[in-house]
Amino acid sequence: MASIPGPVRYNQTARALHWIIAALVLLNLVTGLLGETLEELQIPAPSHLATGILILLLSLVRLGWRLTWRAPPHAADVSPLLRKVARVTHLSFYALMLVMPITGWIFVSASKYPISMYGLFLWPKLPLTKAMPIVGAATEAHEILGYGFAALAALHIGAALYYHFALKDQTLRRML
Ligand code: HEM
Ligand code: HEM
Repeated sequence: MASIPGPVRYNQTARALHWIIAALVLLNLVTGLLGETLEELQIPAPSHLATGILILLLSLVRLGWRLTWRAPPHAADVSPLLRKVARVTHLSFYALMLVMPITGWIFVSASKYPISMYGLFLWPKLPLTKAMPIVGAATEAHEILGYGFAALAALHIGAALYYHFALKDQTLRRML
């Protein structure tokens, strides 16, 4: 009896990194958007900073790994336009997974707040002061890109669920 081929999937390391980073990013979007105002900065939960740095480190590993393989081919019925939208979304995600933590690291470096890695050790701060234009720009960018990241995540997750539950195709299974 011929075996029925399973869906073409992303490799195991890619799948594991996707879900770990996705959970951490969603957590940071929530803690960021729900942050309470303290003195000079609206510091979210202290774990927001540590989790953001962890996302940066894991994303560097993920990007390095990503350069060593090609994504599994799309099913034939995925239109060229949709492939383009997915490609732009995924590239933007990779950029945001680096730019969000780096901008956070920049402006917190210029504040009085330590970057404690879950109470285990202190993450080094960059030699920056508030007067430097890059610090103001990083603060603005972190806020604006944060909203962009949340919107893109809603689009990405909505699309994954739509393809799985409404169209009942293999898209979500590629990442499971
Ligand atoms: C992928 C990682 C990250 C995501 C998705 C993220 C997301 C966000 C979001 C959505 C906000 C709310 C923006 C606003 O309403 O002003 C925020 C605020 C903030 N984030 Fe992050 N963040 C990340 C990494 C970091 C890192 C690494 C740090 C510092 C080491 C950091 C420090 C802060 C601080 C201090 C605020 C409050 C900013 C303010 O008062 O204007 N974030 N973050
Ligand atoms: C905000 C959190 C998330 C981020 C940052 C993220 C990021 C990414 C990235 C960068 C890719 C491209 C992988 C590559 O080709 O290298 C991807 C693919 C994928 N993601 Fe997410 N993801 C998130 C959450 C989710 C969630 C919650 C789901 C499911 C409901 C999901 C389902 C998928 C699927 C099915 C693919 C494969 C798409 C394809 O084959 O073209 N993602 N994700």
